Amino acid sequence: MKNKITIAIDGYAACGKSTLAKDLAKALGYTFIDSGAMYRAVALYCLENHLIDTNGVVNLEQLEKSIGSLQIEISSDQKVFLNQKDISEAIRTPRVAGIVSKIAAIKLVRQKLVEQQQALGKAGGIVMDGRDIGSVVFPNAELKLFVTASDAIRTQRRLAELRSKGEQQSEADVLDNLKSRDLQDSTRAESPLIQVADALVLDTSNLNREEQLAWALLEVQKIIEQQ
Ligand code: DC
Repeated sequence: MKNKITIAIDGYAACGKSTLAKDLAKALGYTFIDSGAMYRAVALYCLENHLIDTNGVVNLEQLEKSIGSLQIEISSDQKVFLNQKDISEAIRTPRVAGIVSKIAAIKLVRQKLVEQQQALGKAGGIVMDGRDIGSVVFPNAELKLFVTASDAIRTQRRLAELRSKGEQQSEADVLDNLKSRDLQDSTRAESPLIQVADALVLDTSNLNREEQLAWALLEVQKIIEQQ
């Protein structure tokens, strides 16, 4: 394959975006960035520093003061660091999942993270997944994918992920969280999740990991051949 392209992957929660993005990046020798992890890092920061109260009200004034000094880093082995502390596990808890959409709807949070994401992708050779990657972060990406999966499949995937980490949550609670995040993510004022016109849709409900990767690699190949 000749030139390194930019691959933007968007979709609803737990539809398999990150797994596909990770597999694609590995197969192509590209950098993989899970942009959701960056929003989760800010959400964790808000929880740990009491910038969000029990009613979900965010102290915007305080957040604005501290956001400039937040250092979020993702290592090549996908560990997430907040101000040098490894928070890879801490950002995957139901507590963080419960507030992250609220944090991701805040304009100043998005401005800071989008800037960092664009800098990470400057040289191409990147696969980034999220909600606004094809629409805002990399509107000129050579390949844009919009990934979907049925509610039942998404719930089972998220339950399995939580169980593997020793977290217990009922099926109904997991589905509730997914649905409420989808609603918040797709109806917010600031860069809501949308399916852009030039995105290819991939429904992962009935495809295994290898089949999804094979499909996406074919699309990459077509683009690279056309260059
Ligand atoms: O992909 P995820 O579930 O880890 O994302 C966590 C939250 O962050 C999710 O509610 C949507 C939000 N998000 C976003 O608004 N924009 C992105 N590019 C990535 C995630």
